[in-house]
Amino acid sequence: MFLSPEFLAVAFCFLLIVSFVHWAFLRFCSRQGIPDTIPWAGVQYGGCTWLSRARATMQSLSGSRTLLDDAYEKYSKKGIPFVLPNIFTGPELILPQSEMGWLLQQPDEVLDQNEVNRDFLQADHTMLHPKVIFDSVHGDVIKNELHRRLGEFTEAVNEELDFAFRKTFGVDTKEWKEIAVYDVMSEIITRISNRVLVGPELCRDEDYLYNSSRFNRWVVLLAAVISLFPQSLKRIISPIVTYCNYQLYLNMAKFIIPIWKRQTSSFSDARPKENNYVQWCLDHAKTEDERGSDMITKRLAALSFAAIQSSVITSANLLFDLAASPLTPMYLQTVRNDVSTHLEAAHGRWTKGALSRMLTLDSILRESMRLWGFVSRGVLKTVVVKAGIYLPDGTHLPYRTKIGIHAYPIHHDADIYPHPTEFDGLRFCKPPTNKDGTSENHPENMLGKENGIPLVTTSASFMGFSHGKHACPGRYFASQQLKLVLAYIALNYDIKPIERRPDNNWFVGSQGPPLGDKISIRRREGTA
Ligand code: HEM
Repeated sequence: MFLSPEFLAVAFCFLLIVSFVHWAFLRFCSRQGIPDTIPWAGVQYGGCTWLSRARATMQSLSGSRTLLDDAYEKYSKKGIPFVLPNIFTGPELILPQSEMGWLLQQPDEVLDQNEVNRDFLQADHTMLHPKVIFDSVHGDVIKNELHRRLGEFTEAVNEELDFAFRKTFGVDTKEWKEIAVYDVMSEIITRISNRVLVGPELCRDEDYLYNSSRFNRWVVLLAAVISLFPQSLKRIISPIVTYCNYQLYLNMAKFIIPIWKRQTSSFSDARPKENNYVQWCLDHAKTEDERGSDMITKRLAALSFAAIQSSVITSANLLFDLAASPLTPMYLQTVRNDVSTHLEAAHGRWTKGALSRMLTLDSILRESMRLWGFVSRGVLKTVVVKAGIYLPDGTHLPYRTKIGIHAYPIHHDADIYPHPTEFDGLRFCKPPTNKDGTSENHPENMLGKENGIPLVTTSASFMGFSHGKHACPGRYFASQQLKLVLAYIALNYDIKPIERRPDNNWFVGSQGPPLGDKISIRRREGTA
């Protein structure tokens, strides 16, 4: 009788309710072991009850920017840590900027940045295979192949850009053309990234591109949905939630497997090695399993997400900034002069060296990323020692606490960046100034560069790619692509001014450009 189907169904529902209530209490109300001497963002100091914490946690869904701005002024600027609630991944302990040195010094065995990414992306469920994010092959391939070979790809990417821009922006030099910014940049970036990752055939295959860009677009949203379930239910719920994305991955795999077969067939030794992601993964594989088509196609899908989605968001933000700034005609002219000077010196060839000297491109992109960097978290790590950790002031924090420093309020601090909400495209080409107009001891100093700061340089005041040992390893690749995109736009298009830059949408600790908004562009006379 005790094991009747009715009894089992009731027991199952009871367990389900208990695990949800337990999860909701932990997520919304509990301090999760963080001492009550540390204030919570969104909660009156001294009035921190379970109810006020629950309210602040709800506010984090769309109001993280306000929570961060207020708490940064109230606490971080005075050197006091605070807790930032996060409805999806739990509370984060935010240190003042002065603790960056301490944060970066902690070994990975104590504070692990990868764990934060794993949680944010619910990588065990959305990234197709548990190995994809955590073993070293990913990093090896990015550093030793993608980064080292950037010079070999500069001209190919530029050629692909020409094709992609003509197709999407058009070549009409008479009439303005309206474009949906996010969709168009998604098409362009997906195409040029795949030119490098899988070669010239696939990067023009509309079917492959469709599946690749759809897969990338959904990952973060699906991760957010999965993170709303208790740990015990995630294994059951995630195959349902990720079903459609898994089909998109299978569609991508259909295109990659023939490339893998060609490169692993017995005849492949007689041919020169191909220069694409599949070959790089084969070369770096440490086991037979890692050489398999299943592992390689899954890695490729995960890498395209990391590589493509972030550059799509960054380039869409840039276009809105350019359309809204009254100084854009001057910025674009400055870029044209910079590009033609360095191209001429390189005998008209788009070399990696020539591109690295075009620092006006870096400045404009860096400024847009300063304003709209898509993850606010800067440097965030999880305590992975069971005994917990002590902060420099002696405060003890338990196992699994997230500790870090957020980029958003620092990027918008008037003491570091005067007129912080303005888009000042050439801000990073001139010596940075303090609020009083001097540049002495400025934290975002020229970092040893005379003519400007490269986009890839991170600091405690610029964390668009995070900062420290775990700063984005793909930023050199991203920087090359984005600089080529901006140069192409400046050389070939005019942008019709818009009255106001549309605001970005915040979703917990991330922000993205509005998805449906449009701007108008027109091909410049004599370039079609
Ligand atoms: C504008 C474009 C990009 C931006 C703004 C960006 C930003 C970031 C940020 C902020 C992180 C740190 C996340 C965290 O730890 O919390 C990160 C990590 C990472 N990025 Fe990027 N990224 C970009 C392009 C790329 C590209 C093109 C690739 C690959 C080719 C890439 C691969 C990765 C990987 C593998 C990590 C994890 C590194 C680790 O955990 O050690 N990213 N990126």
